Amino acid sequence: MAAAAFLAATMLALSCHAAPATAATPTAAAKLDRVVTLPGQPRVNFSMYSGYVTVDAAAGRALFYWLVEASGVPAAAAPLVLWLTGGPGCSSVGYGASEEVGAFTINADDKTLSLNAYSWNKVANMLFLDSPAGVGYSYSNTTSDLYNAGDNKTAHDSYIFLVNWLKRFPQYKHRDFYITRESYAGHYVPQLSQLIYRNTKGIKKPVLNFKGFMVGNAVIDDHND
Ligand SMILES: *[C@@H]1O[C@H](CO)[C@@H](O)[C@H](O)[C@H]1NC(C)=O
Ligand SMILES: *[C@@H]1O[C@H](CO)[C@@H](O)[C@H](O)[C@H]1NC(C)=O
Ligand SMILES: *[C@@H]1O[C@H](CO)[C@@H](O)[C@H](O)[C@H]1NC(C)=O
Repeated sequence: MAAAAFLAATMLALSCHAAPATAATPTAAAKLDRVVTLPGQPRVNFSMYSGYVTVDAAAGRALFYWLVEASGVPAAAAPLVLWLTGGPGCSSVGYGASEEVGAFTINADDKTLSLNAYSWNKVANMLFLDSPAGVGYSYSNTTSDLYNAGDNKTAHDSYIFLVNWLKRFPQYKHRDFYITRESYAGHYVPQLSQLIYRNTKGIKKPVLNFKGFMVGNAVIDDHND
C-alpha cells in the first residue's frame, strides 16, 4: 500500500520538540510527543502528538498513538474520541488517520498532504490507537505476546493505555469520552466499553468520563452479522 509506505517514511521524519500548546500547557512527556509538522503538510491551526505508551513494563509492551486535536471547535472543550481500526490486525494510524477520518489525505504525488474535508477533528479530539501490540507501530519485546493475543487481552491493554495516556495528557481527564470504529472493532469497541463501564461504575467524577460508543459495519458474531 503506497499510503502506508509513505506514512512509514513520514513517521521516521517526524520532528518532535517543544512548541506552544493550543488546548492546555502540555506535560513534559507530552511535549516530547509533539508532532510539529509532517513533510508536505499544509499550515494548520491544531496540534498533533504521537508516541508510545507502555502497557506492560515487565513484558516491554507498548502501544502507539496519534492524537489529532480539534480544529473546527475549541480543542479544550471538544470531546475525546478513541478510534480503533478493526481487522483484527489493521493499524488505526495507517487506515483511520491516513485514509478515512484523519486530518489529512495523501496526495497522488505521494509526497504532500491536503486537509481532509471529512476529518472528524472538526468536532472532536481524535485519538488513533494501534492495537493490539504487533499491529502498526505497537510492539512487544516479549515475542510470545504476539501469539497469546486475543480480545480480552486487547481490551485490558487498551484500558491500561488510556489510564497511562491520561497521565501524559491530564487536560483530557474528566473530558467527555467516546469510542468508535468499524469491522472487527465490533469486538474491540464494546469489550473495551464494558471494561471501562465496570471499572468506573459508581465513581462520581471519573477520570475516564465514558459517554458512549459507536461501531460501523460491526463484526459481532457470524449468526447476527
Ligand atoms: C523494548 O526494548 C528496547 C530495546 O531494549 C527498549 O529500548 C524499549 O524501551 C523496550 N520497550 C518497552 C516498552 O519496555
Ligand atoms: C481552524 O481553521 C479551520 C479552517 O481550516 C476553521 O474552521 C477553524 O475555525 C479554525 N479554528 C480556530 C480555533 O481558529
Ligand atoms: C482478561 O485479561 C486480564 C488481563 O490480562 C486477566 O487478568 C483476566 O484474567 C482475563 N480474563 C479472562 C476471562 O481471560
